[in-house]
Amino acid sequence: MLPTINSLARWAGATVALTALSASLASAQTTGKLKVGFMLPYTGTFASLGTAIENGFRQHVTELGGKIAGREVEYFKVDDESEPSKATDNVNKLIKRDQVDVLIGTVHSGVAMAMAKAAKESGTLLIVPNAGADAVTGAMCASNIFRSSFSNWQPGYAMGEVMAKKGIKKVVTITWKYAAGDESVKGFKESFEKGGGTVVKELSLPFPNVEFQGLLTEIAATKPDAVFTFFAGGGAVKFVKDYAAAGLKGTIPLYGSGFLTDGNLDAEGAAADGLFTALHYADSLNTKRDNAFRLNYAKTFRMQPDVYAVQGYDAAQMLAIGLNATKGDATKSADISAALRKATIDSPRGPFTISAAHNPVQDFYLRQSSAKEKENKVIGIASAKLADPGRGCKM
Ligand code: BEZ
Repeated sequence: MLPTINSLARWAGATVALTALSASLASAQTTGKLKVGFMLPYTGTFASLGTAIENGFRQHVTELGGKIAGREVEYFKVDDESEPSKATDNVNKLIKRDQVDVLIGTVHSGVAMAMAKAAKESGTLLIVPNAGADAVTGAMCASNIFRSSFSNWQPGYAMGEVMAKKGIKKVVTITWKYAAGDESVKGFKESFEKGGGTVVKELSLPFPNVEFQGLLTEIAATKPDAVFTFFAGGGAVKFVKDYAAAGLKGTIPLYGSGFLTDGNLDAEGAAADGLFTALHYADSLNTKRDNAFRLNYAKTFRMQPDVYAVQGYDAAQMLAIGLNATKGDATKSADISAALRKATIDSPRGPFTISAAHNPVQDFYLRQSSAKEKENKVIGIASAKLADPGRGCKM
């Protein structure tokens, strides 16, 4: 049967209506408020890290006049408590309930893995402003997942190179038993053993336990040349103090990834004095870019910035670069990826680029802590333009 004039008119009307609807949906993705969902720890051992990340992010958005790619920024927040068992429910509050355009989170590697899975399944843009879980920019990599911080492998690898070059031979490692601790030690071991050293014992305790006494006794009995460690936040403060109180500081040198002392020098006091760490940020870079960032941060938040604040600030910089390329559309992950892979991020830490797997390629500084000046001072470059190998990433 031939179509009647009326049915053709109805079909044409429906087509026009559908076209109008899809045009208005597309414009809703590029106009209107940009919903940014912070999933960060606001309680627990990493609480201060979450606050610093949010502060840094907000600082850059304020510099941009409160807008990214022309869209006014609206914030949503979830406290993830650094608790992997609650992570999927928590991230879905932001994705499904609040329908955010972009997720910013988190600190803890185990929580970040659940976020990456949810981001991959939903297609929501995710920028990780701390958690180093290697898989996030390795086996789980995706066009919509980026990191403004580091992989756990990176600072460990940088410190392994330094310690091997110093001629240190026998090392005991000590950390929390979860992805960040395990992968930091793995990165350390890779370069340290390549450089001729041996890890004679790997000690660990569950996250976020801080009952270090038994393990410190074991270190004393093993008598290594040095100790390499990953701890961060409140747990790092307790570890540094317990290490000194056990009398080990004067006899067995303690080295670590820089999370051991970054943001912690006030609380650690004399126990941290003289410690060597490796990290992609330091307090004494004394560049025009970093000085301006630090001054503005201190004025706004009445506290000194640390590596976490820088990573939050750079997450906002990366988001702006990505969304400027798509006229504010956060769903165009291939275009966001292309823009970021071409970019050099003008970070307070120093300029960095983004690898094919979406992880920063950056310098790692060798730092020494000064209790008197309350600074993690730059001694030199531990590893220049260090790129995570991105193992298992297929994009
Ligand atoms: C992590 O879980 O990946 C992490 C936590 C704190 C500092 C650095 C890494």
